[in-house]
Order: sequence, then C-alpha cells, then structure tokens
Amino acid sequence: MLMQQTKQHATTKGAVLIEGLSVIFRRRGLVNPVLESIHLQIQPGEFVCLLGPSGCGKSTLLNVIAGFIKPTEGYVMVDHMPITSPGADRGFVFQQYSLLPWKTTFENVEFGLKIRGMAKAERAALVNDYLNRVGLYKHRNSYPSQLSGGMQQRASIVRALVNSPSVLLMDEPFAALDAQTRHMMQELLLDIWSDLNTTVIFVTHDIEEALFLGDRICVMGVQPGRIKAEIGNTLQRPRHFDDTLSNEFTQLHRQVFELIREETLKSMEQSMEVA
Ligand SMILES: Nc1ncnc2c1ncn2[C@@H]1O[C@H](COP(=O)(O)OP(=O)(O)OP(=O)(O)O)[C@@H](O)[C@H]1O
Ligand SMILES: [Mg+2]
Repeated sequence: MLMQQTKQHATTKGAVLIEGLSVIFRRRGLVNPVLESIHLQIQPGEFVCLLGPSGCGKSTLLNVIAGFIKPTEGYVMVDHMPITSPGADRGFVFQQYSLLPWKTTFENVEFGLKIRGMAKAERAALVNDYLNRVGLYKHRNSYPSQLSGGMQQRASIVRALVNSPSVLLMDEPFAALDAQTRHMMQELLLDIWSDLNTTVIFVTHDIEEALFLGDRICVMGVQPGRIKAEIGNTLQRPRHFDDTLSNEFTQLHRQVFELIREETLKSMEQSMEVA
C-alpha cells in the first residue's frame, strides 16, 4: 500500500471551470430551480470537498460535471473542453455500491478498459496493479456479494481510476461504511490521490471528512443551491487522524459547522413554509 500523502509531482490535467451554472428541473408544470449561478474554478490535482444540507444540489452539481445532466444555463469545462456528455476523463464513484453483480472484482475493474479496446495482457497488468494497491488482488475473482462494503468501494474507486481520469467525482462514497472502515478508506484515498495527482471533487455531509481530505471546502447554500462560502484548508499534509484533535482542526470545524447550521435552518424553514 502507498504511504505518502504529499504531492509527488505537479499535474497539468484536471482543471475544472464552472461558470454561471444553473439547473432548473421542470416536471408537470412545476419548476424546481436547483442550482443557481455556480462559479467554481478548480486547479489540476486539487482536492475539493462540497458540503451542504440535504437537497441543496450537491449530487446535481456532480452529475452536471459528469455530463449526466445538462445545465439550464452556464457551462462546465474540463481542461478547456466544454462538457456535453459523460466521458472517460471523468471517473464517478457513487454512494451506493454500484459494481455489476454478475462480474468478478477483476471483470468489474477491467470493464471500461475492455470497452476502450485495450489489449488483454495490458489490461490484466493494469487491473492487477490497481487491485494490489488497494489490497484487493487476492479477491480479484470474488463477486461483489462476496465482498464487504469497504472492499466494494475500494473496487469502485479503482474501477474509476484505472481509466486515468483527469477528474474523480465522488458522491458520498464512504457514507454507508462503519466509522473504522471509513477512516481507513479516507487514508487510502489520500494515498492514491497524492500518488496520482488526479483532481478530486468529493461530496460529503461529514465536516470531519471534508477537513481531513480537502484542500478546499465549498459550502453550498439551500435551494436554489449556490456556493455560499469557500474555505481554504490550512491543515498540513500528510494528514493523520491525530490532526483531527488539534486546535487548528477544531477551529476550522467550528467555522464550517456554523455555515452549514445556518443553511440547514433555512432549509428546514423552507420545508415548513411549503408544508
Ligand atoms: N433528475 C431530477 N429530476 C427532478 N428533480 C431532481 C432530479 N435530481 C434532483 N432533483 C431535485 O433537485 C434537488 C437537489 O437534489 P440533489 O440530489 O442534487 O441534492 P443533494 O444536495 O445531493 O442532497 P443529499 O444531500 O440528500 O444527497 C432536490 O429538490 C431534488 O428533488
Ligand atoms: Mg446527494
């Protein structure tokens, strides 16, 4: 397993630019403005966390970047190319376990490379290398139902990374895991990220998780969702779990907590008005 969490080398791919992005969902005459005037610029190799109350549009924003949802206004560019559809330059890791149940771990990870036409021997070498990095090599012939939740998410992460994406999009990937496994997954993710220098956009509800992982925390406001505040994370890398006990961590935590609390209260007031 990789043990470094410091940046090994500068990266040049994975720049994300979001300008004037709005998403309005319309259904049966009802208009639901979900995202409004989002502006966000992300540097290549940066680790950005999106935090915000439920329903503020975090997943919608991630889905627009992935190319699954088209914006009503504005645009997203990755490495100066406008996003109009999903592409191999953006890997996605979902909250719910999303491996194909009829394929083994190896076959799940290999799938994207096979579709892209990579030769069998080259595929096998690459997939085995990634499975080894995350401690899944000996489980390569197991089916998802034979893996724990943490193992399935490790397989999902390498399934995305094996395609060498410029940007890794993660939607609460560790939310369903127990606390101990979640901590291990966070450390593993930092190790992989520091080695590969992929840009990461990570959605979470968990302030500690965002502070432990991110270079920058974007706190989103409630409907219509927008970026309410951006907090640069001053915690040094490499990070260890002891750092979560430091004064610096506690201060950052309080700052983010207050921002989220305001938005959660607003969100509750809005839902009471509707009711
Ligand atoms: N495909 C869709 N069609 C219509 N409305 C949608 C669609 N996807 C999301 N919405 C609406 O957009 C709003 C934001 O949803 P979204 O899932 O992006 O929020 P979220 O911040 O990820 O919430 P959570 O923290 O609970 O995951 C909600 O009101 C939701 O009902
Ligand atoms: Mg969501």
